[in-house]
Amino acid sequence: MKRLLKILKWTGIVLVLLVLGICAAVYFMYPAKYKVPYPEIAANNDSAVIAHGKYLVYATAHCAECHAFTRESFNDYKPGDMPPLTGGMPFNFPGAVAYARNLTPDNETGIGKYTDKELARIIRYGVKPNDEAIMPFMMYGDLNDQDLTAIVSYLRSVAPVKKQIPENEIGFLMKGVILFFMKPFMPTGEFTKPIEADTSVAYGKYLAHAVSGCVSCHTKMDEITGELIGPLFGGGGKTPSVTEEPGVWVLSPNLTPDPETGKMYDWSFELFKNRFKQGRTVKESIMPWEMFQNYSDDDLKAVYKYLQSIPAVKNEVKEVVIRE
Ligand code: HEC
Ligand code: HEC
Repeated sequence: MKRLLKILKWTGIVLVLLVLGICAAVYFMYPAKYKVPYPEIAANNDSAVIAHGKYLVYATAHCAECHAFTRESFNDYKPGDMPPLTGGMPFNFPGAVAYARNLTPDNETGIGKYTDKELARIIRYGVKPNDEAIMPFMMYGDLNDQDLTAIVSYLRSVAPVKKQIPENEIGFLMKGVILFFMKPFMPTGEFTKPIEADTSVAYGKYLAHAVSGCVSCHTKMDEITGELIGPLFGGGGKTPSVTEEPGVWVLSPNLTPDPETGKMYDWSFELFKNRFKQGRTVKESIMPWEMFQNYSDDDLKAVYKYLQSIPAVKNEVKEVVIRE
């Protein structure tokens, strides 16, 4: 009996020390600093570059899906609408809320305070000028310099709107999770060369991986670190419902050309294109269907051809919406 008490006592002491140690680590080490390079990016006034940037923001790279809407204003979205990028959409986590920020060039409340290189660094690495990481919602590490220049040029070209977005609120527990498990997304290095925008498989791959993030949602992902852990495009990526109903989750379908379990196995290009033009059918879905309604036919063709060319993966995703 005495011995048991002794063991219990020591286990208790070790546990308390461990918890204290973790608390101290979070207290002293949060927020982590990341020394990532500044991309050599400068905005320019070329109207074709700005137009391409606008297309990236409101279509393929879908920045506007998070930075131009509230949760409600999606419901009456019409393809081609381009509301200003004034931010404000909240993203809730256990013990934390982060807000999509105002991306108009207002000096106080928007991105007017950043230089082109600072802005490009945030978009590519998710790291602010003070070397602190933003929450890893954005996966644009692989956007090439041309597209990054186009986006920065477009963001600089619009009218500033003064709109103060609340500061993020991050609880102590979430700080620990961020510190130990969440790292900013780093470029893979695969897509750094300039690439011709055409309907080729290679350009489709660039769109599906680097620009539109199809791969990161349609692949099984570690729910805490965001690392892709399943076969690429095999589906099963699990995300909470965007309606924020507790216990409701959405699974992404398998996009590989597997004859039995591939969602698009027997889809013609016409069907694929029309599915994109149709927009959202699952209200709980995190897929940015609204912005993807603005995808050009040629770009859709490239993505379609790429998805037809990838290895088949057998993985059945029966229900996309699950209630726990
Ligand atoms: C899935 C939603 C989502 C998408 C898509 C998205 N963002 Fe964001 N963005 C956020 C959130 C949320 C934050 C705030 C993160 C934080 O403060 O930790 C943010 C922050 C930023 C910031 C930092 C601004 C500041 O004042 O610190 C910039 C710049 C930015 N986003 C640009 C972009 C661009 C450009 C794109 C498209 C290429 C994009 N975002 C796509 C959600 C998104
Ligand atoms: C932010 C996550 C996310 C991104 C990015 C994303 N998807 Fe999805 N996708 C989903 C989810 C979740 C579903 C299941 C719910 C639904 O149909 O909206 C889905 C469904 C689909 C479907 C099936 C639609 C249907 O009617 O059954 C296709 C096809 C598809 N995605 C293709 C793509 C392609 C191509 C891209 C890139 C251009 C892409 N997705 C980007 C999450 C995403």
